[in-house]
Amino acid sequence: MKIIVCKDAAEVAARAAEIMQAVVCEKSDAVLGLATGSTPLGLYHNLIDAHNREGIDYSHVTTVNLDEYAGLPADNDQSYAYFMRHNLFDGLGIAPTQTHIENGMATDPAAECARYDALLEALPRDIQLLGIGSNGHIAFNEPGTSFDTTTHVVDLKESTIRDNARFFASMEEVPRQAFTMGMKQIMDAKQILILATGEAKADAVYGMVEGEVTTALPASILQTHPACTLICDEAAARRLTNV
Ligand code: GLP
Repeated sequence: MKIIVCKDAAEVAARAAEIMQAVVCEKSDAVLGLATGSTPLGLYHNLIDAHNREGIDYSHVTTVNLDEYAGLPADNDQSYAYFMRHNLFDGLGIAPTQTHIENGMATDPAAECARYDALLEALPRDIQLLGIGSNGHIAFNEPGTSFDTTTHVVDLKESTIRDNARFFASMEEVPRQAFTMGMKQIMDAKQILILATGEAKADAVYGMVEGEVTTALPASILQTHPACTLICDEAAARRLTNV
C-alpha cells in the first residue's frame, strides 16, 4: 500500500483530486467507483472546481457507487443517491443514466443484489474510491464480513449507526440495514484510493496498515491489493509507525 500523509483534510482533498483527475484525463470513458460520507466531500468539491475552471470533461465517464441505505428512496435527502447527485454528479454534468447505485427501495433484495453483481461484472472499475469507518468497515462491509462477499444486504453495527446518526434528525431515523458492494468486488478494482481524515479514524487506519489482515478489520485486506493508495491527514496517521 502506498501511503501519503498530508498536513490536513484540505491537502488530502487536493492530492486525491489529482489522482482521480489523472484517471479521467488518461481515459475519458473511465469507470469510477465512488463513495459517500463526509471524507470525500472536499475531493468532490475540488473535482467540480477544476471541472468549472479547467473544463475537465466527465461527460463520458460511468460511475458505480459502493452502497445505499435500505428503505430510503433516491429522493430522500439522506439517501446516498441524493448525496451523490447533489455533491458531485450535478456539478460535473454527469447524466443520471451514467451513474449507478443500489436501489434502496428494492422489494426483492436478492434480485437487486444479483442486478448489481451483474452490473459490476460488466463495468470493471478503473479506480475505486473508499472512506473508512471508525471500526474499519469499507462501504458497509462491517467487521466479520467474509472477504469473498459480493453485493449483499447488511445489518449495520451499533457503532456505525451511532457514527452516521449525525446526518439524521435522530438515532431512530438511521436505517438499520443497507445494500453494499461486497469485499471481493471492492478488491476487483484496478486501482483503489482510500481517504481518512481526523483523529477518530486513527485506530482504524493503524489496523488497516499495520495490523494483521483479518475480517475483524475489513479494510486490512487492502494491504494485499496491488495498486492501493491511502491518503490521510496527520491526525488519522497518528498511530502509524512506518511512514
Ligand atoms: C459510511 C459509508 C462508508 C464511509 C463511512 C465513513 O458508513 N458507508 O462508505 O466510508 O461511512 O464515513 P465518513 O467519511 O463520514 O467518516
